[in-house]
Amino acid sequence: MSGTTARTIDGGRDTADPLVSGILAPVRCYEVQLRLAELGITHLVEVGPAGHLAGLARRTVPDLEARTVAQPDDPPAWSRSTARSGHDLGPPPVTVVRRETDGRTLAPPTGDGSDPPPPAWCRVMTLPVAIAGLGAHLPARVVTNGDLAEVLDTSDEWIRSRTGIRERHYVAADEATSDLAAHAGKAALADAGLGVEDISAIIVATTTPDHTVPGTAPLVAARLGTEVAAFDLNAACSGFLYGLRVGSAMVATGEGPVLVIGAETLSRIVDHNDRSVAVLFGDGAGAAVLVPDAGASMGPFELGADGVEPSMLWTCAGGSRTPVDDAVLEAGTHFLTMRGGDVYRNAVSRMTQAARGVLERAQLGVDDIDLFVGHQANVRILDAVVARLGLDPARSHVTVDRHGNTSAASIPMALTDARDAGRLSPGDTVLLAAFGAGLTWAACVLTWNPTAAAGEGG
Ligand code: COA
Repeated sequence: MSGTTARTIDGGRDTADPLVSGILAPVRCYEVQLRLAELGITHLVEVGPAGHLAGLARRTVPDLEARTVAQPDDPPAWSRSTARSGHDLGPPPVTVVRRETDGRTLAPPTGDGSDPPPPAWCRVMTLPVAIAGLGAHLPARVVTNGDLAEVLDTSDEWIRSRTGIRERHYVAADEATSDLAAHAGKAALADAGLGVEDISAIIVATTTPDHTVPGTAPLVAARLGTEVAAFDLNAACSGFLYGLRVGSAMVATGEGPVLVIGAETLSRIVDHNDRSVAVLFGDGAGAAVLVPDAGASMGPFELGADGVEPSMLWTCAGGSRTPVDDAVLEAGTHFLTMRGGDVYRNAVSRMTQAARGVLERAQLGVDDIDLFVGHQANVRILDAVVARLGLDPARSHVTVDRHGNTSAASIPMALTDARDAGRLSPGDTVLLAAFGAGLTWAACVLTWNPTAAAGEGG
């Protein structure tokens, strides 16, 4: 783009491709807007048919005259700008961008439902966002398989062979989700070397909030001593990755550092007399501080949901559809129930699908992945996903043996555990994948601490 001289760039794929992809990606779009404003362009002609750049420029630069023409030789009419400014602008400085690239033409979305799906490459998006700090918190009480076998018709052998779980942690009677979340959040901030005054928002991913109203995040914010934006996000066990997606977008569009926490007290919603569920779950919290980092790469992400069969894994009662009453308490339908086999099959296929999706978009092979941190529900599920992806099992980090399934807390706790175990080196490519009630699923790739890697190299 040139703002000072008339210049025609004709048939230049090298010029058109970055511009088109830039305009279609929200963060790049923002950068293009900044650049347009900086260049001081007064007139712009885009060779159609779509007119993305002209439309964007018109919205960005006050008094800019932008036109879309069918052919480079078509004369644009400038009268409106001249009339509006009241000055004779003379021959306009013109930048012409030919937009056809390999026969792909992109029309601006109408938003009326008639738009064709975007080409897959439009969804390739990485954000200049890094995880600057990690933290985790487990409640003190450890519950082993042996402890459960004393009160339930189960055994250490059954639990280990079906799930890989050896022990899990439970909150004390006076502890709640926000307590775990605040501890993990503080630890992540300290790890990042930031104070609470440095963050712009707190997202708490949880499916076991302290209360139905208010959200848990404002309580955590109060515990940390801040009044920044604070909200809950419930995507069950996929919640932390959904939180990363939302938080990274906030950071990349200028909000400043965001604290994303996954925190759960699943021991509060399982029926401790139901051996098919009680042995699987645990409590805990993990947190990550997201910061802008020009050298970093977070994403692409793949998020999905299918709510057709919520009863596959749910607490039936306790919400607006079935409020708690005596009949609910009698039947115990406010407890978590699931169809284990169906959940298992869906978990394996959806996590694999989501992971493959992000690898494809990121143009990475499995061998490019230095560490895989999957949702820690069950070691058999993790092993099956790893096998289907063709990933080296040694690159999969496992904490479910010590934590049980901690839903939205599992991935940030496992990431923290991996980092503490020395399994994350600057510049590593990390694959995250999750699956949960809803159904929901999510995956993303990110580069671990790229700035430190650059510093080491230089
Ligand atoms: N101890 C002993 N026996 C148990 C038990 C326990 N804790 N829980 C269930 N059983 C029994 C069942 O009653 C059933 O008995 P039956 O055959 O007499 O009816 C039997 O074990 C089922 O065994 P099996 O078919 O070998 O179990 P499985 O291989 O399907 O494993 C799960 C069961 C729950 C471990 C498995 O389905 C699973 O991991 N599902 C996904 C759960 C999950 O991760 N959910 C969260 C996703 S985010």
